[in-house]
Amino acid sequence: MDLTDRPRRLRTDGVRPLVSETSLAASDLIAPVFVDATADERVPIESMPGHERVPVDDAVARVEEVRSTGVEAVMLFGIPESKDPEGSRAYADDGVVQRAVRAVTAETDAYVITDVCLCEYTDHGHCGVVEASAEENPTLTVENDATLDLLSRTATSHAAAGADMVAPSSMTDGMVGAIRSSLDADGYTEVPVMSYAAKYESAFYGPFRDAADGAPAFGDRRHYQMDPANRREAVRETRLDVEQGADVLMVKPALPYLDVVSDVRREFDHPVAAYNVSGEYAMLHAAAERGWLDLEATARESLLGIKRAGADLILTYFAEDVAETL
Ligand code: PBG
Repeated sequence: MDLTDRPRRLRTDGVRPLVSETSLAASDLIAPVFVDATADERVPIESMPGHERVPVDDAVARVEEVRSTGVEAVMLFGIPESKDPEGSRAYADDGVVQRAVRAVTAETDAYVITDVCLCEYTDHGHCGVVEASAEENPTLTVENDATLDLLSRTATSHAAAGADMVAPSSMTDGMVGAIRSSLDADGYTEVPVMSYAAKYESAFYGPFRDAADGAPAFGDRRHYQMDPANRREAVRETRLDVEQGADVLMVKPALPYLDVVSDVRREFDHPVAAYNVSGEYAMLHAAAERGWLDLEATARESLLGIKRAGADLILTYFAEDVAETL
């Protein structure tokens, strides 16, 4: 046998680390944190083992737990005390996220990113203002342009509370530009926007919707989130956000969309983020609970795969667990 090219030569324990193409670090990871204005104590999220909704006055302690694992960045989600058709608690100065951001930025050195969307705050659960007759006719769309102003107000109120970065996730056309101009107009020129640029209408968000209580009361999100069948469209969506001033480009979910992560990496020079979403977390836990998968190994392999596809940063519910093993 005359085999001159033998890749196995580079697979010994000694040389593997030297030729490894991808690595994971705690500094690549962002941990989602749920802050709940209705909770007096921590409430476990059943479909996301190990995660809880925490009361506002526990947010600092929660973020310090994250930081103790080496993860310095958190993404805050809020569950408001009340909901209405316009999601007004999303942009209230004393809203749940605004209060949590004030406390966390005052008392910790964490890098605080906020999710900017209305679905947790509207009583109909959609990511924007809904036309009056939408309940009878759920195929009617969320009113795109009327939603822009509310998203801008939400982002600006987060920045005013001290958020380090804002992350609009509503898939409203023009959201990045609207948010960028209102941040700039209010003097928050240094606050970056991480856009959920290619966010798909995915069934993998199920556990999150339990956690954040943000499932649509009628209809679905197909008319504003992307069709899972589309790949080229993700580049078009992302380009629009780049043109509007997005600083970081996110693809969501991660594992079923690694082709999209790879495309966005190749097309743009911006940092690329991927969101390893709630369903991706829950399915590994469910299989591990049955003894069918090794949780630690599959979690780490998932994150490595997401980085290998081209993501620079990863939002993941595994952030703390994986960081602790690095
Ligand atoms: C809000 C939002 C959602 C997620 C993040 N931000 C839910 C949705 O779009 O329905 C999902 C995150 C996850 O599943 O982990 N729009």
